This record gives sequence, structure tokens and C-alpha cells, in this order.
Amino acid sequence: AEGPWEECFELAVQLALRAGQCWPEAALAPPAGSSFVGGFRLTCPPGLSLQIIRKALSEEKQVSTKTSAADLVTETDHLVEDLIISEMQKRFPSHRFIAEEAAAAGAKCVLTPSPTWIIDPIDGTCNFVHRKALLCLDVATLRSHTQAPKCCVLVRKRQRVLEGKPFCFLRRFPTVAVSIGFAVNQELEFGVIYHCTEERLYTGRGAGAPSAMASGCRSPGRQVGLTRRVSVHFGLRHLSKALVLTEIGPKRDPATLKLFLSNMERLLHAKAHGVRVIGSSTLALCLLASGAADAYYQFGLHCWDLAAATVIIREAGGIVMDTSGGPLDLMSCRVVAAGTREMATLIAQALQTIHYGRDDEK
Ligand code: IPD
Repeated sequence: AEGPWEECFELAVQLALRAGQCWPEAALAPPAGSSFVGGFRLTCPPGLSLQIIRKALSEEKQVSTKTSAADLVTETDHLVEDLIISEMQKRFPSHRFIAEEAAAAGAKCVLTPSPTWIIDPIDGTCNFVHRKALLCLDVATLRSHTQAPKCCVLVRKRQRVLEGKPFCFLRRFPTVAVSIGFAVNQELEFGVIYHCTEERLYTGRGAGAPSAMASGCRSPGRQVGLTRRVSVHFGLRHLSKALVLTEIGPKRDPATLKLFLSNMERLLHAKAHGVRVIGSSTLALCLLASGAADAYYQFGLHCWDLAAATVIIREAGGIVMDTSGGPLDLMSCRVVAAGTREMATLIAQALQTIHYGRDDEK
């Protein structure tokens, strides 16, 4: 039987894919003109002049800051958020929205019982901003670029395709995502996260969601379809040997940094194997859900970083809780998540609180 929110779920999947696939080359070329080589996208659209590419790239590099010098936003964040919200509003005019860039512009983040979409258009904006684009007139020009040895190797492989044509070569830190959560009666119903560079879709559904909704992890870029459920060998109950993920959060004042580093130190003293920072809260949480890490904690993330990922982790069998050890509060700007309750509790007990306030009080 079809459940009440299945149409919403399908729309979230469509829009996450659409938004995610348009972001990197949005300013460069239509998708039809590009191809993947060894994880790098080479764009050589017919009829597109270098001047247009160059102009678009320089426009795209406009970066602004929000709450701190490390809290970044680009034109693309706004474009993607507007695209997602306008499409959703067309289909579901009575629904409410909590979205990162609207909140940054002053919109209130209040979760009411109404159906509410919770959206992060680009999670990992700092990674997104730090990509480099190399514009080349031809293969010879690129070869003479001494700082790009890896590019040269790839170009050699594609020589026949690229010879005599202008092209653009992008390097990027590969953790950038689109995240869409959906809540009704203040309960999370489903979550959809699209890993833009791996072209991988993570989905999860809440207890009330219909069974027809697909849950799991799929790679639409490779046309694999839904082949792999998020199933995890959760089990580590001790911090020793754990691989723990975290994110720095936007505040960079000395007192906050001291607490951040001392929290890491506490986990390393407890013999955690490693503590990693990848620049995207949502994808770090997806790594936990997929079994690649044992735990995650953070102070300073937001409800749009947490909503979709919480459903995905819970459905995979993991625990998501408050850093006090109590139930998760989506608006509290802090979280601990792990494969087992024991692990989540140990981490919560080890952490010193970093105060970030609440999303619904800003
Ligand atoms: C941020 C990233 C970052 C984390 C912040 C998030 P954004 O999201 O996930 O790694 O430290 O707490 O808000 O700004 O890239 O969407």
C-alpha cells in the first residue's frame, strides 16, 4: 500500500539528484557535454567558448561569509536552495520549509506539526569553494603546466578526444552533498542525501513511512539502481579501536578551538584509533550509517545537517542522541551518533560542551 508521504519522498529523491548533478558544472556546461575520467570530470562541450567558461568560473567563485570567516556561502548554495524549494512549493503549496540559506537570511527555524522540509542545499560548502578549475586551450598547454602532473596523466589517456579542443579540468575535495529531510508532527519521516562527487544517494525512512519507499544507498550516476541496503556491522561498544568522525563547526575563537581540540584529545586518550574531519556533517553521518566509521559527534551543526542523516542512521540500526546522553533535540546544534548505545554514551560522557545556542532561538 502506498503511504501518505511517498510522493514527497519521490520528489525529494528527484530534486536531490537534480540539484546534486547540476552543482559542479552548473556554470560550465550542460551535463551532456561532460564525461568522467578516473573520478575527474573533463568538460568539453561543443560550441562553448573558453571566454564563456572563464566568465562563468570567475562568477561562480563569489564566496561570502555568514556567522564566521569559516562559515561560507556561494551563489550556488542559493541557486540550489531556490530550485529545491520552488519545485516543492509547486507540488505541496501548504508545506513549510526550514532551509540553510533562508535561515541565514533571517527566516525562523520553527518545527511545527505541519509537514516540513528541512534542507541543506550544499553541505560541505568549504570543500565546494576550494575546488580548482584549470582551463586549457589544448593538451599541449596543459602539459606545460608544471603544477598539474596528475592532470597530465589523465589527459594523456584522453589525448585523442581532447587534442585541439579547449577544455576545463576540475579538482575538488570530494565530500559535498545535498540533504533533504522531511518531518510531520515534529517526527522525522524520511531523509535523502545525495553525495555529489560519488554520485551516491542515501535514503532512510522513519517508523511511519510506507514500505514502498526505497531505503538504502544507490549510485544513480552509474545506473546501478537500488542494489545495496544500508546494512552495517554495528557492534563496537568501546572507544578503544573506534574510528570516530567529527566536524569543527563554524566558531574559531580561541576558547572554542581549545574545547574542540581537547574533546579530540579526550577520545584519543581513550585509545580511539582515529578522529577524522571531512568537511561535511551529513556525509560523515552517512559514513557512519554505511559502516565506514564507528561514531560521530559535533557541536555547532544545524537541523538541516542532522535531519535527513538521523533517519538514515536510525534505519541502519544506529543511535543518534544528544551530547548530554538524552534524546536527540534536532534544534540543539549538537549530536552524538554511533552504531551502539554504549559507544554513543561513552562519547557523550567524554565530551565537554561547546555552546552554540539553538536553531529555533536565532
Ligand atoms: C557545514 C559543514 C561543516 C560543519 C558545519 C556545517 P555547510 O555545513 O557540514 O563541515 O562543521 O557545522 O554547518 O555550511 O557546508 O552547509
